[in-house]
Amino acid sequence: MNTISKIGILTGGGDAPGLNAVIRAVTKTAILDYGWKVIGIRDGFQGLIEPERTILLTLKSVRGLLPSGGTILGTTNRGNPFHYPEENGDEIRYVDRSGTVLDRLNELGIDVLVVIGGDGSLAIARDFIRKGVKIVGVPKTIDNDILATDLTFGYSTAITTATEAIDKLHTTAESHHRVMVLEVMGREAGWIALESGISGGADVILIPEIPFDYDAICGKICGRREKEIMFSIVVVSEGAFPRGGKPSYQQIPAGKKEVVKRLGGVGERVGAEISRRLNVETRVTVLGHLQRGGGPIPFDRFLATRFGKAAVQLIAENKMGQMVCLHGRRVESIPIEKAAGANKLVDPDGQVVKMAESLGICLGR
Ligand code: F6P
Repeated sequence: MNTISKIGILTGGGDAPGLNAVIRAVTKTAILDYGWKVIGIRDGFQGLIEPERTILLTLKSVRGLLPSGGTILGTTNRGNPFHYPEENGDEIRYVDRSGTVLDRLNELGIDVLVVIGGDGSLAIARDFIRKGVKIVGVPKTIDNDILATDLTFGYSTAITTATEAIDKLHTTAESHHRVMVLEVMGREAGWIALESGISGGADVILIPEIPFDYDAICGKICGRREKEIMFSIVVVSEGAFPRGGKPSYQQIPAGKKEVVKRLGGVGERVGAEISRRLNVETRVTVLGHLQRGGGPIPFDRFLATRFGKAAVQLIAENKMGQMVCLHGRRVESIPIEKAAGANKLVDPDGQVVKMAESLGICLGR
């Protein structure tokens, strides 16, 4: 028998527009349909390691959340409880704090945890499920690279932001006869670059799945100039890299002593190389976190709401260990065990890439 009275909810990993809409839908469904209490856990799993990091979510506390960006619960893409960074003098050492999380869940009387997260958080969720914790998952990433679901909320908002940026770059590129390079997010998957690039009418789109060749890129730009089209737009995914090369990572300080590796810099490199080879003016824009910030477009509010509602239904139906997902137009579910770690990449020979190339867009090959 299902004897639920209290559920917990947390958001983990990078934020995505629509997180608050999920929190709202989970809270409303849990309270209105089932009469459960909902505990919001702050800053992902960290809120279960350090005390006093939870809040009671009520109908009042989730009012007005649909259009808001970020997450009211806070999030982090560090602090995996199974590999938790602790300061040890001048050094950081990594310890297993999963036991603290289990104790805390018990103390709080949380029967089931709703984990809203991307590949990292889902892998943590999977490891807690293996330790007996009852969890249901909601997939989240603006990169749309989780294999188990056709779409994630936040992705369409990010595409909208990136496409608007390309539209704006067009007018200034054309006026100044320049090559404009726009670097967008997408760690291992080029969906954001590909979809916004096609929607914005980019001339060159570079994605991690297709290592690029400067001859191909410069050939495309030269071809346009021969037709007296003196400007070009290049959209490059942060994870893209030249043939025979590697993605460009930077070391970024995180916290007091930790340093993390983050992608970035490929846009500058591509811009400089085009400029050097063709003797044309290039300018580089890194769109960065504008793609993750701000409120969700209606499509993402709707998808996030459907996911939140479905997650609570999974709990009510005792389908623990499952993650909601979108298949076609239907919200369904699959085991988190299967979903964690399986990435959805752009097929270099797939329909979308072929269409882009047949439209004359250079994919860097
Ligand atoms: O996974 C989503 C994402 O937006 C990636 O596209 C990007 O590489 C990463 O997060 C950046 O994360 P942060 O700046 O929060 O470390």
